[in-house]
Amino acid sequence: MEVNILSNNLKTNVYGKNILLFEEIESTNKEILKDLEDDKIRKNLTEGTVYIALRQTGGIGSFGNEWQSNNSLGLWFTILLYSPYKKEPISFIPAIALAKLLKEKYNIETDLKWPNDVLVKSKKISGILCQAKQLEKDKNVCAVGIGLNILQEKKDFTKEIRDKSTSMKIETSKDYNIEEVFKLFMKYFEDTYNSGEDIVEIWKKYTKMLGKKIKAKKDGKYIEALVKDITKEGYLKVEILGKSEIWMSRSSLDIDTYF
Ligand code: BTN
Repeated sequence: MEVNILSNNLKTNVYGKNILLFEEIESTNKEILKDLEDDKIRKNLTEGTVYIALRQTGGIGSFGNEWQSNNSLGLWFTILLYSPYKKEPISFIPAIALAKLLKEKYNIETDLKWPNDVLVKSKKISGILCQAKQLEKDKNVCAVGIGLNILQEKKDFTKEIRDKSTSMKIETSKDYNIEEVFKLFMKYFEDTYNSGEDIVEIWKKYTKMLGKKIKAKKDGKYIEALVKDITKEGYLKVEILGKSEIWMSRSSLDIDTYF
């Protein structure tokens, strides 16, 4: 893969216009957050800069878990956003872009799982990790890390995640050009970002969680909750034993994939 293959024919105006490609790196999120600390490098980190890796030796997932990405079978990249959005709905934007892209271009039906997983038949095809950082007072930046499984076959996932993971290839028995998927994704991302539409409302169209009972591990205990709604801030509104609760983030929460 080369940078010019990623940028030739990229149909965006801002997002993905500045791309740094790493053959092997620990984690694109870690790298971009580290580079933001350096004033000289930071000047070049414009809105929508993308760090993309062929392989990550220490890809990070939610809950500090590892994200299996020490191979070139998927897309592992981070988009930098100097954004007015709050943290949770930011992660809704790539999730919506992926749901639309996979449906419209590849005929893969997804189901969004709060807050930022993209599932196909209850298995994870993509994970999104947004890490915010305060640069100055009132100026935040968000590193939006996206992992999309594309060419993996079942055997390529470790035993621990094999039954919970999927890829575009597993779902369709087809091969894909990773660079093409990236370019299309960036276009869907930019269009969703600039659409001016209500991000939470669109996200709700792509989830099957609403009205469902979910199992979650909260502060170490298993509970059952009925999903009532997503608030305008992007929080999950649930009912537990007749009482309303709002879950703001998924830290200390582990929602069962198989709801
Ligand atoms: C999750 O666990 O659901 C989130 C996974 C996020 C993985 C992506 S891959 C690119 C970026 N770099 C990382 O180290 N993590 C994110």
